[in-house]
Amino acid sequence: MTTFFREGDSQEIASESVWATASSSEPASRPKAANQNLAIEQLKERLGEDRVTRIALNFLDKFMGVHLKDGVIDWMEDRRLGMVGQEVVNFGSDSFLGYDRNEQVQAAIVDGMNEWGTHNGSSRAFGNIALCEEAERRLARWMGVEDTLIYPSVTLANIGLLPGLVGKRDLLVLDRKSHDSLHQSAMIAKGNGAKVVLMDPCTADALEEILRVEDYDGCVVAVDGIYSMTGELAPLAELDEVTRAHGGILYVDDAHGTGLVGPKGRGAASMLLESIDNALVVGSLSKAFSCLGAFVTCDTRLKRILKIRSSTFIFGGPVPPPYLAAICKVCDILESPEHDEHLRKLRQMIRQLTDGIRSLGLKFSGGEAAIIAVTIGDIEQTFKAGKVLFDRGYYVQSATYPAVPIMGGVLRIQVNANHSPEDIAGLLKGLAAVKTEFKLGRS
Ligand SMILES: Cc1ncc(COP(=O)(O)O)c(C=O)c1O
Repeated sequence: MTTFFREGDSQEIASESVWATASSSEPASRPKAANQNLAIEQLKERLGEDRVTRIALNFLDKFMGVHLKDGVIDWMEDRRLGMVGQEVVNFGSDSFLGYDRNEQVQAAIVDGMNEWGTHNGSSRAFGNIALCEEAERRLARWMGVEDTLIYPSVTLANIGLLPGLVGKRDLLVLDRKSHDSLHQSAMIAKGNGAKVVLMDPCTADALEEILRVEDYDGCVVAVDGIYSMTGELAPLAELDEVTRAHGGILYVDDAHGTGLVGPKGRGAASMLLESIDNALVVGSLSKAFSCLGAFVTCDTRLKRILKIRSSTFIFGGPVPPPYLAAICKVCDILESPEHDEHLRKLRQMIRQLTDGIRSLGLKFSGGEAAIIAVTIGDIEQTFKAGKVLFDRGYYVQSATYPAVPIMGGVLRIQVNANHSPEDIAGLLKGLAAVKTEFKLGRS
């Protein structure tokens, strides 16, 4: 998820009805601070006065439940969720292959804990357990690369890794639509003296134009493999060609492709590129893997260097042993025929959904991996559309500004292998109701 917030946006949305609601209700509902003189009270005042913050808080109050913020009391066996006073089918889970409920994965967590305890108690720079090396070897074997390096999350991989790849005479080109963690990483890189240029749109032509005029020693081009809000694929093959021609390397945040697309589920980069030998591919261990963490593909020499240059590797804690054991188990599954069966089931659910959305005449994107985004429009309508589905027993994320452009709100549907054809059919009925209520068409 990127942020489409820009300076001046608050003026733009100030005219919207929703902002009028937020601004008129805010002063009356704001509780009086017990001691206005405390700096922390002033901090809350100051932060709370930010317009975008106020709009967001207003929506959270108005559409409680639509974001599962609070009130989930039970995660049930399939994709059912117990909420306070309601049961819904969850179409907002990143556990795309259903491995959060896989008995072998769950058993591996218990075994890992029994053998190694809950945590190894220090940063890997000071205490690197053999199980972590083992998980890295298994990941490398599955990905078909020489080695991998594990981080505690994709965010911490990006923030630790990317600034370590570029220095004062180097260029970092960043896809404008890429995930927020890449933008945060780019800010750190910029603070360290690297030149950062935003690429918008994310096309080979736009990249060519940037690389032709910029002067640099080293160059890294950073993009998402699959955009988390729209489910669309980035044009990785074309970007790779231009990047190679200009002596750069491609950095792909493949969080939503890992385990799901490409040969053996190796991700969008492996699916779209002839070879990932000139790329650093970051995969997620928290989404389709249903464990915790992230990995980056590399060779053993680069791995040693990355360990020294990644701040989050040195100064942050590791993935705990029970999850490392689970990661090894998921690697086993990914290399077995079981994975093919899980993917077949997932694809069947995706096909049923996308065929159904198409016949409803709704506009949507994605479906290559397991995210499908149905276009709704403005912020309020998108929340209301999410509520229509929620009231019918289906939870999907209402993705609104600043995660998407101001008028580009979508219902973001995450399909899982353990959804059933009945779940999909019910969701489609809900989408038909959304279409009627909001007069949506294929415009
Ligand atoms: C493209 C992308 N990168 C990074 C992340 C963050 O991943 P993590 O939760 O492992 O930090 C996400 C989360 O959804 C994502 O979609």
